[in-house]
Amino acid sequence: MPLNIYQEATGHPLSNIKHVIAVAAGKGGVGKSSVTVNLALALKRLGYHVGVMDADIYGPSARKMLPEDRIPSQKGAIIQPALCQGIHMISMAYFRKEHEAAAIRAPIANGIITQFIQNVAWGPLDYLLIDFPPGTGDIQLTLSQQANLAGAIMVTTPQEVSVIDVRKAMHLFEQVKVPIIGIVENMSYYRHSPTDENIYLFGKGGGERLAREAGVPLLEMIPIDPCLCYSGDKGHSIFAAENTEADSIAKVFIALAKRVIEHMAMMKVQSGEGQTNFEIHWKEMT
Ligand SMILES: Nc1ncnc2c1ncn2[C@@H]1O[C@H](COP(=O)(O)OP(=O)(O)O)[C@@H](O)[C@H]1O
Ligand SMILES: [Mg+2]
Repeated sequence: MPLNIYQEATGHPLSNIKHVIAVAAGKGGVGKSSVTVNLALALKRLGYHVGVMDADIYGPSARKMLPEDRIPSQKGAIIQPALCQGIHMISMAYFRKEHEAAAIRAPIANGIITQFIQNVAWGPLDYLLIDFPPGTGDIQLTLSQQANLAGAIMVTTPQEVSVIDVRKAMHLFEQVKVPIIGIVENMSYYRHSPTDENIYLFGKGGGERLAREAGVPLLEMIPIDPCLCYSGDKGHSIFAAENTEADSIAKVFIALAKRVIEHMAMMKVQSGEGQTNFEIHWKEMT
């Protein structure tokens, strides 16, 4: 497969991206795509250059949630990603009609993911979020081994049946030495505004338990909010000025983005990056 311009310059096709982050669960329907898209929008809102790779070949939904202003284009092997509210995005959804079933055999699906990793001209990005497909199969392994992942954010609902699958997915990351950045518990509760009461529709504490077991932070508890569902279905940004009803859920995603930024910086320090500056400074002092 031909190398892209970045690969030629730097050795890895994604190495001019500061943080490649997986958003994974091992399970469908827990909110991976919603978290990916809205976290991307929140990071963009905070001034970062952001990309989204929708790696769910069989059920790509990120395009619906984040419609494009410019479709992707291809020159030779190089794919220019779509541009969606300033976010660069690639998805299988651009390459087939919405109603077409994705009857793609596993090796082909894996080939598509490899092209997404190697041939997309993302340009310099601060964050590339990869919306992982459900399960712990070939595609997940390819992404984990080849996408230069800085870490993974695990999405779960509070229920035990969700937690069990997320544990399995965490085990896969462990095996390929991808650190877990933290847990996002989605659909944690429903805020009943007339009484100001939180109703725990899917039980309580799954995310916290998982975080404690794995020794990683619980990054955020995202409430069930009809605005999130509606905005996703309509492709309206929760940050759009006219989407005032989404104000409170937008704040939750800004808080999540800030915690992710914080934890990525901490992980960098722990892994030894950034020590050079300290050393130079120390030498100057003596
Ligand atoms: N916190 C939430 N509040 C309300 N609806 C949500 C929330 N999170 C996800 N949803 C809805 O649940 C459905 C599944 O979410 P999705 O992000 O597609 O999950 P996944 O990518 O894990 O399959 C979507 O219709 C989405 O709009
Ligand atoms: Mg999805």
